[in-house]
Amino acid sequence: MTIPRPLIAGNWKMNGSLAALEEARTLAAALSGKSVRVAICPPSTLVGPMRQALLNSQVLIGGQDCHPEVAGPFTGDISAEMLAEAGAVMVILGHSERRAAYGETDDRVAAKVGAALRGGLEPIVCVGETLDQRKAGDALSVVTAQIRGSLPATLAGRVFSVAYEPIWAIGTGLTPTLSEIEEMHLAIRATLGDVFGTDGSSPLILYGGSVKPSNAAEILHAAEVGGALVGGASLKATDFLGIIEAV
Ligand code: PGA
Repeated sequence: MTIPRPLIAGNWKMNGSLAALEEARTLAAALSGKSVRVAICPPSTLVGPMRQALLNSQVLIGGQDCHPEVAGPFTGDISAEMLAEAGAVMVILGHSERRAAYGETDDRVAAKVGAALRGGLEPIVCVGETLDQRKAGDALSVVTAQIRGSLPATLAGRVFSVAYEPIWAIGTGLTPTLSEIEEMHLAIRATLGDVFGTDGSSPLILYGGSVKPSNAAEILHAAEVGGALVGGASLKATDFLGIIEAV
């Protein structure tokens, strides 16, 4: 199976309002005719309105998390099926902010990935090391263990992405060197091959963490970088477009 490359996905986190849909409209208009695959993952309240705002546009819409179950007594949560009904086609799972703030374990993330597949959403599964782990020389072992723990066997043959996001690079303006990015992406590809056999060559491996227009070209052209997961710079159409144009 070939997955269109690259994917540039914007993670709005807990930002945005109905007024911000104008940024999404501007983005969609500027993309028309371009073949790159672009997604925006807004807060869940904006998924439905964004679908309406972007009807007939090529911009895909994603959620930022989903619960493992379809429905039930889980106050404040949202299921993959609910996101899909509102217009999402993909979902970010295991973001480090959720792993840190909500104690999400690899097992929990794997259960959510299963839920995403059940609900018809394409998962973007996030992994990444802390600065202490990198300084201790543990980055590769931490991230490959996260891959093994967070990706259920049911992903074999399915369309999904892994996003490598060093935690110390998120929202800080810091980025790893190109050789550190390539070393990690190659290690992730090898682990995907171990886990999924020949199917392990298909998933995109996105880089995330302080991607901006000025560094996007070199990052996006590094070995095994199949796209980007972009936080802050996805909130403004002009910045996000600057990244997309670097593809
Ligand atoms: P950033 O966030 O681009 O603002 O560093 C990336 C992310 O958390 O996905």
